[in-house]
Amino acid sequence: MTFLDKDYWTERYSAGKTGWDIGYASPPLVQYLDQIKNKSLEVLVPGAGSGYEVAYAVKEGFKNVHILDFSTTALARFGSIHPEFPADQIHHQDFFEHEGSYDLILEQTFFCALDPTLRINYAKKMKELLKPNGKLVGVWFDKEFDFDGPPFGGKKDEYLNLFEQFFTIKTIAPCYNSIPERMGAEIFMILENSII
Ligand SMILES: C[S@@+](CC[C@H](N)C(=O)[O-])C[C@H]1O[C@@H](n2cnc3c(N)ncnc32)[C@H](O)[C@@H]1O
Repeated sequence: MTFLDKDYWTERYSAGKTGWDIGYASPPLVQYLDQIKNKSLEVLVPGAGSGYEVAYAVKEGFKNVHILDFSTTALARFGSIHPEFPADQIHHQDFFEHEGSYDLILEQTFFCALDPTLRINYAKKMKELLKPNGKLVGVWFDKEFDFDGPPFGGKKDEYLNLFEQFFTIKTIAPCYNSIPERMGAEIFMILENSII
């Protein structure tokens, strides 16, 4: 499905058709970040768009936060708002071509933006990018949409079947601190890279 390429997303940003963009750091991810003491962790936010979670993590003292998106518009906007953000931690790149090694990867409306045929590749790539015992943490939709995506929905059983092949599922639960518009429609997961 080539229509979901970088030009598609850049066009959406340019046209202001960004219904996914909540305008602030996602509360479940904020709460997760807030309980982490070690601010030296290597953190990646892929498909980060406006990068609110990235900015929040930096504000809270995380030193090694990386933002990745293949849309020039999204990253240019982030760079103009955060000129002090280290250039070598900004990755203008296709997620599937990124190389790195992270303690923590945050998920916020990136999975649902991908063609569902890429879900297995997403899981494999996340595993490749995580250090041993590193974690993929965030929110995934807990609903199917009655239109063609993006966003593409999903349900708990599908996530279990997919992710248990690659990760230890530490948490999979209805998200209790979603934004009001998504309350009851998200699953919070903590997936640990502890399966060889
Ligand atoms: C629905 S938006 C979500 C943005 C952000 N996470 C948020 O919640 O506001 C999906 C983002 O993923 C990016 N994206 C989609 N496929 C990508 C890929 N293969 N590699 C890198 N970025 C990608 C798009 O450019 C877009 O910024």
